[in-house]
Amino acid sequence: MADVKSVGVIGGGQMGSGIAQLAAVAGIGVWLVDLDSEALKRATQSITNSVQRFVSKGQISREVATNALKNLKCTSNLEDLQSADVIIEAIVESEDVKKKLFSELDRIAKPSAILASNTSSISITRIASATSRPCQVIGMHFMNPPPIMKLVEIVRGADTSNETFMTVKTMAERFGKIIVCSQDYPGFIVNRILIPMINEAFFTLYTGVATREDIDTGMKLGTNQPMGPLELADFIGLDVCLSIIKVLHVGLGDSKYRPCPLLVQYVDAGRLGRKRGIGVYTYGKQQELVKS
Ligand code: NAI
Repeated sequence: MADVKSVGVIGGGQMGSGIAQLAAVAGIGVWLVDLDSEALKRATQSITNSVQRFVSKGQISREVATNALKNLKCTSNLEDLQSADVIIEAIVESEDVKKKLFSELDRIAKPSAILASNTSSISITRIASATSRPCQVIGMHFMNPPPIMKLVEIVRGADTSNETFMTVKTMAERFGKIIVCSQDYPGFIVNRILIPMINEAFFTLYTGVATREDIDTGMKLGTNQPMGPLELADFIGLDVCLSIIKVLHVGLGDSKYRPCPLLVQYVDAGRLGRKRGIGVYTYGKQQELVKS
C-alpha cells in the first residue's frame, strides 16, 4: 500500500476546495487545479476562512492551520500533477467531460498514481475505461461540505485493485473520515436513496401539494432531518441533483426516477441553488437565506 505524500485535486468548486483543505490539514502537499482562475481565488479564500474557523473552535492548532495553507498550491495547468500520488477529480457531473479528463490524466500522471473521482453517481467502471490503468481508478465520494461531513463513500469499479482500495481507505481515515463501501451501481448508496427523495419533493411542490416551506418543515420535523429536501437541493446544487437523477433514470431504467419538470425548469433558468444566489429559495451575498 502506497504512502500518500502528494495529492492533486481537480475542480476548485464547493467539493474540490473542501477536499483540498482536508488533504492540506492532514499534512499532505496539494495541487488544486481549476480552469477558472476566479474559482481558484474563491477556493483559496474559502479554505483560509474555513481553517481559521477550525482554529477558533479549538479543533485544530494554529500551527496545523499555518502548515495547511503552506501545503496548498493552486494552478490551472494539469501538467503540475505529474508527481501526485493520488489525484481526486471533482469537476462537473458529466460522464463525457470526466472521461476526457481521466484520459488526459492517464497520460500526465506517473504510472503508480491512483486516479479517484468524487462523482456523485457516474459509473467508476466507465470512467476507468478511459484510462490504461483501470485497477488504479476508484470512486471517492465525499459529502458536502467535505471538511465537516464525516462520511466518504468508496466505490470500487469492476477492476479496482485491493491495493488501490487500501491506499484510498487509509487516506480517507487520515482525513478523519469514516468510510462505507459501495458496489459500482448508479447513485451508489447515499444518492440512490437521497436524490429520489429530493426529486419527489420537487414533484410535491410541482403538483401543488404544499408550499416549499411546508415541504421542508414537514420533512425536518416529521423525519428528524437537519435540512428539508428542497433546502438541501439548493445546498447541493440543482444542476448536480438533476445530473444524478438522470443517471439513476438511464442507469436503472425505471420511470420512477424521471426528473421532475420543475427541477429541469429551474436548472434551465440558471436557478442552481445557493452557489448562484437563487434556487428554490433566494440567498444573499453570504449565501444566507433571504425571504422572497
Ligand atoms: P462546482 O460547480 O461547485 O465546481 C466544479 C468546478 O470544476 C468549477 O470550479 C469548474 O470551474 C471546475 N471545472 C470544470 N471542468 C473542469 C476541468 N476540465 N478542469 C478543471 N476544472 C474544471 O461543483 P461541485 O458541487 O463541487 O461538484 C463537483 C463534483 O462533485 C461533481 O461530480 C458532483 O457530482 C460531485 N459532488 C457534489 C456534491 C455536492 O453536494 N455539490 C456532493 C458530492 C459530490
